[in-house]
Amino acid sequence: MKANTTPSADIVIIGGTGDLALRKLLPALYLLQGYDLVNTLQRIVGLGRADLSRAQYTQKVKEKLESFVPERHWSTKRWERFESLLHYQQLDADQPTHYQALGQLLQKGAADERVYYLATLPSLYGKICQQLKDASLVDQGNRVVLEKPLGNNLSSCQAINESVAKVFPESNTFRIDHYLGKETVQNLLALRFGNALFNPLWNNHHIDNIQITVAESLGVEGRGSYYAKSGALRDMVQNHLLQVLCLVAMEPPASLDPDAIRDEKVKVLRSLKFITPEKAKKNTVRGQYTEGASEGKPVKGFLEEAEYKDSLNTETFVAIKADIDNWRWADVPFYLRTGKRLSKRYSEIVVEFKKHPFSLFGNKENEPANKLVIRIQPEETITMHMLNKKPGLTGALKLQPVELDLTEDIHAINQDYDAYERLLLDVINGDQTLFMRRDEVESAWSWIDSIVEAWENNQQLPTNYLAGTMGPTKATALTERSGRSWHE
Ligand code: BG6
Repeated sequence: MKANTTPSADIVIIGGTGDLALRKLLPALYLLQGYDLVNTLQRIVGLGRADLSRAQYTQKVKEKLESFVPERHWSTKRWERFESLLHYQQLDADQPTHYQALGQLLQKGAADERVYYLATLPSLYGKICQQLKDASLVDQGNRVVLEKPLGNNLSSCQAINESVAKVFPESNTFRIDHYLGKETVQNLLALRFGNALFNPLWNNHHIDNIQITVAESLGVEGRGSYYAKSGALRDMVQNHLLQVLCLVAMEPPASLDPDAIRDEKVKVLRSLKFITPEKAKKNTVRGQYTEGASEGKPVKGFLEEAEYKDSLNTETFVAIKADIDNWRWADVPFYLRTGKRLSKRYSEIVVEFKKHPFSLFGNKENEPANKLVIRIQPEETITMHMLNKKPGLTGALKLQPVELDLTEDIHAINQDYDAYERLLLDVINGDQTLFMRRDEVESAWSWIDSIVEAWENNQQLPTNYLAGTMGPTKATALTERSGRSWHE
């Protein structure tokens, strides 16, 4: 490292011509440059199977950025600055000479830090890391970023982690979950541990149930071959929903140190009660969308979309009643649900408090419980649902629901920043707080495996739901069985 200067960094994107790189990573890096947040970024090297020149690659990137970067952030000057950072190198994962050529490129004016971003097939992660090492391209401080899906079950995830660990130590391994880069997800920490108000209430004495919904209106689009094998449980619950659940349910960490936070998250994952076949029948719902309408347009059912014809056993919707077996959360159900082609796109966390034991106002049915509603998207809001007096002179004292908005500041900021910007900035700065540690991902898989095994054992196939609805009616029954309901 050069003395007295901020370290410079090279980012090497393996899968540099792929959808993730062109749609998310490169636009995020472009925008970070614009905010003057990563002045130290020295080079961005895209790697892909195609034999492209640097000029061909930059042209490809430019075309994509023009459509993915908001117009107000686009300028020729900013593009020219960004373009000067871009390089391209052909890489066939099996081809040692390609790694040698990469080495020659990287060694010319090498930066102080190097980040390898693996945005390619996870089954290649181990091989690529080993090839990088064999070509002497990995130094002690180099970091690696791993995109999901990290395996398809616990054992395949362990195999990937094991092979990467032969080359990169855990302290330099960044497992990405883009939900952790979303503003309101991070705000959970601020809300819970920055306000004295919530801490005494955040337990089974005062909270009745917690709901986490990630609803999408889109279908599986062009990702059928991956999705047909994955399904909603592996694609969304294993990572995004469980990460959010951890931040809602974890104990206060000893500090904001990345490992202090991750220690608490992993304890939550280990406290999740395994789902037995008997429990799965009652506490899980699988669904698959059939032909319907989405956002006013007719859409095909999942099976009709050409590639998925044999995928009767793929769920595009899942709802689960999960239990966390610990002192804080015993007897508080955590309802999780996610699905594609639902009525609208939104993600939210709802913390529903217990009702008070006696109604002073004599209208118990119309006195909804207090709720804290944390909207992750499309808008990022936090609202407290409470009751106050219906204004007016006449009649008995009546209540009315009110929503207290706690989010003025987020509205101002979030117009401009996306989860990948936040996470890439943290990788460049070497901050692992928002990245998943190996034991977290593996604990999450253990729990998911219990559900998959239970489904297999029960031969529990998905139930159909019409595209454009909120999933199978069984999902409504999941909450109603205990006198509760989804917050809609
Ligand atoms: C990805 C899943 O991880 O998250 C996709 O693979 C899903 O299937 C996407 O559509 C949802 O992300 P977001 O940020 O749009 O909610």
